[in-house]
Amino acid sequence: MMPANILELNHVHKSFARTETENVTQALSDINFTVRDGEFLSIVGPSGCGKSTIMRLIAGLIFPTAGTIKLNGEVIQGTNPERGMVFQKPTLFPWLTVEQNLTFSARMMNTAKRSEYKSEVERLLEMAGLAEFRHDFPHQLSGGMAQRLALIRTMINQPKVFLLDEPLGALDAFTRMNMQDELLRLWQRSGHIVLMVTHDIDEALYLGTRVLVMAPRPGRIRADLVNDMSYPRSRTSDEFLHWRKRVLEMLDFGHNFN
Ligand SMILES: Nc1ncnc2c1ncn2[C@@H]1O[C@H](COP(=O)(O)OP(=O)(O)O)[C@@H](O)[C@H]1O
Ligand SMILES: [Mg+2]
Repeated sequence: MMPANILELNHVHKSFARTETENVTQALSDINFTVRDGEFLSIVGPSGCGKSTIMRLIAGLIFPTAGTIKLNGEVIQGTNPERGMVFQKPTLFPWLTVEQNLTFSARMMNTAKRSEYKSEVERLLEMAGLAEFRHDFPHQLSGGMAQRLALIRTMINQPKVFLLDEPLGALDAFTRMNMQDELLRLWQRSGHIVLMVTHDIDEALYLGTRVLVMAPRPGRIRADLVNDMSYPRSRTSDEFLHWRKRVLEMLDFGHNFN
C-alpha cells in the first residue's frame, strides 16, 4: 500500500510589504495544521483573513515569511501538479476547445503516458457532463460547465492535494449545490487531500471532514473543528443547523463589523 499523504503547516507566518509606506501586512500569523489523505478541510472566515494566502502558499506560488510547509516530509519549493489549484474564476484557454483545455495540462505533465490519459480524458469528460461539448470553446459554456472543466483539468493530474479557492463562488445556488455533490464524489473517489476555501458556512459544513474557522488582522486560526456528521449530509437536519449556529457564533465573535 502507498503511504498516506500528509500535509503539515508549522508555525507559518506570512507578511506582505506595503508599497508607499514601510508598513507590512501580516496576512497570516502562526498557522498550524496537519491534513492527511481522506480529509476534506473546509476553510471559512471573513474577507482578508488570509484564506487565499494559505492556498497560494501550499500551491507554492508564494513562500512563508517564517515557518514551514511540508508535503510528505518535504518542504514545498514551488508549484507542482501534485498540488493542483482551482481558482474562483475558471482559468481556461479561450482559444482551445473543452477537450484541448483538458488534455493540455496532462500533456504538459507527462508525455510518455499520453495513451493512458486518453481513457482518463474520456472518463472525466463523461463524469463532468462535458463529453458532448468536447469541441466547444470556453465562451460557449455556462459558468457551471466552465468550472467543471477547470476542476477536471486539475484532477487529470491526480493531485495529492487539491486546492480549491472559492471554486463555486460565481455559481447560482442550484448549480452550486449540484457541484458540491460532484466535489464530494471526486474527493471520495480519489481518497486524497482536499482543502477548500469558502465564504459559505453551509458549504463548509456540507463538505468538510474538518472546518477551519479563521479570524483577520492578523489572519489566524480561531478553531479547527472535526465535523463528524455522516455523509450524505442533510442541509436541513437539526444536527446541521446546530453546527451552523456554532460556526456562525464563532465567526461573529472573531470579527469586528466596523
Ligand atoms: N500580494 C499581496 N500583497 C500585499 N498584500 C496582500 C497580498 N496578498 C494578500 N494580501 C493581504 O493579505 C491579507 C489576506 O489576504 P487574502 O489571503 O487574499 O485573504 P482572503 O482570501 O481571506 O480574503 C489581506 O489583508 C490582503 O490585503
Ligand atoms: Mg480569497
